[in-house]
Amino acid sequence: MKKICVTHIFSSKRVSSFSTIRKFEVKQLMKIISGHASSLGVTNLSELLLSFSSTMICRIAFGRRYEDEGTERSRFHGLLNEIQAMASTFFISDYIPFTGWIDKLKGLHARLEQSCKELDRFYQEVIDEHMGSNRQQTQEQDMVDVLFQLKNDPSIAIDLTYDHIKGVIMDILVAGTDTTAAVSVWAMTALMKNPRVMKKVQEEIRHVGRAKDFLDEDDIQKLTYLKAVMKETLRLHLPAPLLVPRESNEECIIDGYRIPAKTIVYVNVWAIQRDPEIWKNPEEFYPERFLDSSIDFHGQDFELIPFGAGRRFCPGVPMAIVTLELVLANLLHSFDWELPQGMVKEDIDVEVFPGITQHKKNHLCLCASPRSHT
Ligand code: HEM
Repeated sequence: MKKICVTHIFSSKRVSSFSTIRKFEVKQLMKIISGHASSLGVTNLSELLLSFSSTMICRIAFGRRYEDEGTERSRFHGLLNEIQAMASTFFISDYIPFTGWIDKLKGLHARLEQSCKELDRFYQEVIDEHMGSNRQQTQEQDMVDVLFQLKNDPSIAIDLTYDHIKGVIMDILVAGTDTTAAVSVWAMTALMKNPRVMKKVQEEIRHVGRAKDFLDEDDIQKLTYLKAVMKETLRLHLPAPLLVPRESNEECIIDGYRIPAKTIVYVNVWAIQRDPEIWKNPEEFYPERFLDSSIDFHGQDFELIPFGAGRRFCPGVPMAIVTLELVLANLLHSFDWELPQGMVKEDIDVEVFPGITQHKKNHLCLCASPRSHT
């Protein structure tokens, strides 16, 4: 399934085919922020960027824009929160198998069962919608459409079932929404705390964008410093600091320690990416470190693996990066950003909300003002 998804769902070609959706959604976001700016209000970027990211993923994955649909919107967000909550809940039986009764007693099994049923109902509705007769002609192709095509393609090696499709939708929702939102908030947080970097990246963006109102995906390829800012953000504020757990296949010895087969292994990427033996001044937000360096986050350079490495490597990287760069470039191109009155940069905290994805704990609230065209 992963191979099929990487080739057909997450390929660069497929990701490019969603560029109109990205442009539309980033423009919508800019409009909302302009509204806040003209009423001199404070913008809660954490809320806005989460909503932006979930709208993007839903449109790309299954062609729906829940932001337009009141009750459906809250149902969808409720489900998304529940997935996140259950995925980060501690089940003692994961570690001590015969203690399953404790999880049961705490009501965790019943809750898990109930949420899985609701999720399944939701995924089934998505599938039914895509099977509707007038669907194909009226809407742009989304990921579920592609999966349907693959299901009917005799050259695909496995027999794709609806359960496979449901599994893929679930993976995309869980893995794609929160991560993208969290990283965009961390990037803005880091820039607000580092005015030198903010000034430098805005100069680059505004030089490339010059008289344009909106930077598109081609312009972004020229933004070398913005790309370094992205890498530095992912070095210091990676949303999945322990990746996803692995299990050792066979017994092995590492640094003299015997690791039995079937041991759950967590990779502490947070520590690797702040290791003073690897990074000079590791705690400093210094994007320049990547300017003359070939280190990249595609899973080959083990000092920088915010998307993991090996077989479980994140297949969403092309989509995540293009989305993050587009949104960040335009936030910084169109607006100047200031802290709410009375706040100084030292007041911005970098505390983390406990959970499966590392979000900034306290919402990032900033004042935007439209940039002055010179
Ligand atoms: C900045 C944003 C993102 C970050 C930092 C991120 C990070 C990660 C990490 C660390 C993993 C586990 C890799 C490992 O353990 O080796 C992962 C897996 C995954 N990611 Fe991402 N991700 C991001 C965005 C996305 C997006 C946008 C999508 C899809 C639309 C996505 C889809 C997936 C999927 C399906 C997996 C599971 C792969 C597997 O288990 O084989 N990710 N991601």
